[in-house]
Formats: sequence, C-alpha cells, structure tokens
Amino acid sequence: MAEKKMWGGRFEGSVDPVFEEFSQSVSFDRELALVDIAGSRAHARVIHRAGILSVEELAAVLGGLDAVEREIREGEFVWRQDMEDVHMNVEHRLTELIGDAGKKLHTGRSRNDQVALDFRLYTAERLEAWHKGLKDMIAALAEQAEKHVDTMLPGCTHLQPAQPVSLAQHLLAYAWMFRRDFDRISDCLERVRVSPLGAAALAGNTLGLDPAESAREVGFIRSFANSMDAVSDRDFALEALFTASLVMMHLSRLCEEVILWASPRFGFVGLPDAYATGSSIMPQKKNPDAAELIRGKTGRVYGALVGLLTVLKGLPLTYNRDLQEDKEPFFDTDRTVSASLAVAAPMVAMLDFRTERMSRAVGEGFLNATELADYLAARGVPFREAHEVSGKAVALAESRGVRLEELELSQLQGLSPHIEADVFTALDYATAVARRNAPGGTGPEAVRAQLDELCRWLKAQTPS
Ligand code: ARG
Repeated sequence: MAEKKMWGGRFEGSVDPVFEEFSQSVSFDRELALVDIAGSRAHARVIHRAGILSVEELAAVLGGLDAVEREIREGEFVWRQDMEDVHMNVEHRLTELIGDAGKKLHTGRSRNDQVALDFRLYTAERLEAWHKGLKDMIAALAEQAEKHVDTMLPGCTHLQPAQPVSLAQHLLAYAWMFRRDFDRISDCLERVRVSPLGAAALAGNTLGLDPAESAREVGFIRSFANSMDAVSDRDFALEALFTASLVMMHLSRLCEEVILWASPRFGFVGLPDAYATGSSIMPQKKNPDAAELIRGKTGRVYGALVGLLTVLKGLPLTYNRDLQEDKEPFFDTDRTVSASLAVAAPMVAMLDFRTERMSRAVGEGFLNATELADYLAARGVPFREAHEVSGKAVALAESRGVRLEELELSQLQGLSPHIEADVFTALDYATAVARRNAPGGTGPEAVRAQLDELCRWLKAQTPS
C-alpha cells in the first residue's frame, strides 16, 4: 500500500493515481530544491532561537539538509511523485535520514510561505544571471561601436533611407535599451528580495517567529507587511516575466536588423559561421537561424507573461492551487532569455560589417535632401519653402539619374537664388553626420561621449 500522505491525517481513502499524476509538481519544481534547502536552513535557525529545535536537533537538521543537498547534487536523490512536490520530497528524505528532528522543521511554516520564499530566492538568482547576460550584450555592442564611430550607413524611418548616421550610433541605440532592461531588473530585484517566511499558511505565525529575522537569514532585504499578501501574490514573478519580455523584444528587434542586413539585398553584414546555417538543398545559402530563433522565441516569453497574468486574475485570497502554475512559465522564460543572450552577445561581437556597402547605400537614397533644406533655412528661407525646393531638387536629380550632389550648381540655383557654391559642402554625407554633435546625436563627438558613458558604467559594475 502507498505511504500515507504527509497531509493525510483526516483522510481514509487514497488519491486516484490519475489525479496524483495530474497534481504533482515535483517533475518540474525539483528545480527549486537547492533554494528550498537554503530556506529550510534559515527556518531551522529561526525556530531554534525560538526554542523549538534544541541545539542537537538543529545540528541534526542542518547536517541532514547537507546530506539531502549532496544526494541531489550527485543525482542520487530518489524523487517520489507520491510526495507531490519538491518541499515534501526534501522534508520526507530529511526525516528518513535524521528521524524525529526532521518532523519538527515544518513548525511555524506552511508550504504556502515556503513555496513563495523558494520562488523568490530562485527568481532573484536568475535575475542576477540575466544581469550578467545583459552586461555581456552591452559590452559586445560597445566593442563593435568602438570600431565603427566613423562608419556611415543610411538611418531609416519606415525602413526608408532617411539620413546618414554612424553605425556606432545605430548599435548603441540597442545598448541603451539593454541598459534600461538591466536597470529594470535591479528595480525588480528590490521587490523580489522580500521574504514571505513567517506568514505561515496565510494568517501569520503564533510562535513568536520574527519575519524580519527570517528575511535576514535568507539574505533578503526585508519581510512582508501582510501575511495574506505574502502567500498569495506572484507580482514579483510577473515583473520578472515582463522584464524578460522587454529583453526579448529588444533582442528580437536587433535580430530582425541582423536578418535584414545579412540579406544580399542589403549586404550590410556578414554572419559569423558560428551563428549561421546552410541549406540542405541550396548550396549558396547562409541563413541567419540564430537571429531568427531569438526573434521566434520572443513569442513564448510573451506567452508566459500573459499566461501567468491570466492564472492570477480571478484568484481570491490567499493561496490557491492554481498558483502551482506559476513556475513552469518562469523556468521556460529563464531558459529562453539566458540562452538568447548567450547566443546574441557573441554573435553581435563577431558580426562583420560591410562598411563599403553601407557607405555606397548612403549615396543612393538622396539622404542629403534634409541637408539642402537646412542649408536654405540657414540662409533665411522659411523651412517649408526650403523643403519644397529640396524636394524639387530630388525630383530633378531623379529624372536625370544622378545624385543631388551631382547636379550642376546652375541647375540648383535655378531652383533657388539662395544656393551658392558652398552648397556642396553641405551636401557631403560625412559633413551631415559630423555636424550632429549635440548631445545624443550621431556626430562623432556625441557618439564618443555616449560610448564613454556606457564603458564607464560597464566598468563600474562589480564583476559577477
Ligand atoms: N506545489 C505547491 C505549489 O507549487 C506547493 C504549495 C502547496 N500548498 C498547498 N497548501 N497545497 O504551489
């Protein structure tokens, strides 16, 4: 006969095996085993100080938890589905190993505050790993930007060539997005690192256990303010999933550009062999699968966010078993974000930018038309008129099959008497970029200032 459930005091019948399989979480929440043990160590110390565990019992519990941890790390631990979840598996094995002291560990604690703590500890660890991945990503972008302050390419709006920009400016736009993602993770960590231990099932504990002491024991900044809130909300996990969604959205946009730029139609970038694949039928192909997969995997992360929001939306206070559905989307998101950053950062670092193709493209789409309008505006022509003149110059050049700067001075002067020979300096693409040194602009000095700021920030991050 199956062993009685740990919660089975009032039960006579046994659980239907199909339901047991349906309700178990140990197949996935065993991922929480090490943080569960860390939480139990903290709780054991707290209940020892409250007089619940003697010195000997505390030593037995701590020694037993070490032994359980070793078994898990070495793959020897026997996970039992009939024990439902990671918490009861660990506690059951502890009791097998050390006897009655193991049975005292759950005093003043419920699986409700226990699982909330475990999930918070785990989330905090993973957020720190995302921090590291984002730093590598920012460093890869900064490194490429460093090499390409003076490389020009067409900056686009509507994917139409708009104005020439520095490639460094384009790459650093992404670096700042990831930098904000990094900061969002820091903000999120403030709310993740709050201990729910001591909330017990939902109403708080009667044993005089101080939640602040538990919080200190697990290395968190503070403890909950309300026991019912502590065991029932998962907003910390949702914030993490939202942050992950933004990271993936930013990665996906960057990957989309890599995909476009790697197409021979653009030809702006050569993909590193390490992050491309060939076609089994078309020998000429070099496909940007790594970038495509990251773009594609973004969907599952959004799915996790919306999924968990939906799990929570109708739940009355406090703990409901629905909450067991909180972990898998987070685990999947963590794997996706971590792997995507681990692929994207070195891929970006190895991109081989085809700078001659980029500068040729700069000359192809009348990207200096705004310069002509600005030139006239600087000579007192109202901007709307200047815009009109420049538009006519574009039409003229287009009809002649030449660039703006290839029109004769007399042809340009035919459009406006304000145009003089110095117009050709204004029409020079490099000049157009170089003039934009106002803070945040694409001029080389402004770009260097950005780059310096990012590099200083990267340096200031303690190595993790
Ligand atoms: N496996 C459960 C979960 O993941 C643990 C908490 C169960 N608590 C309870 N009272 N049934 O949410």
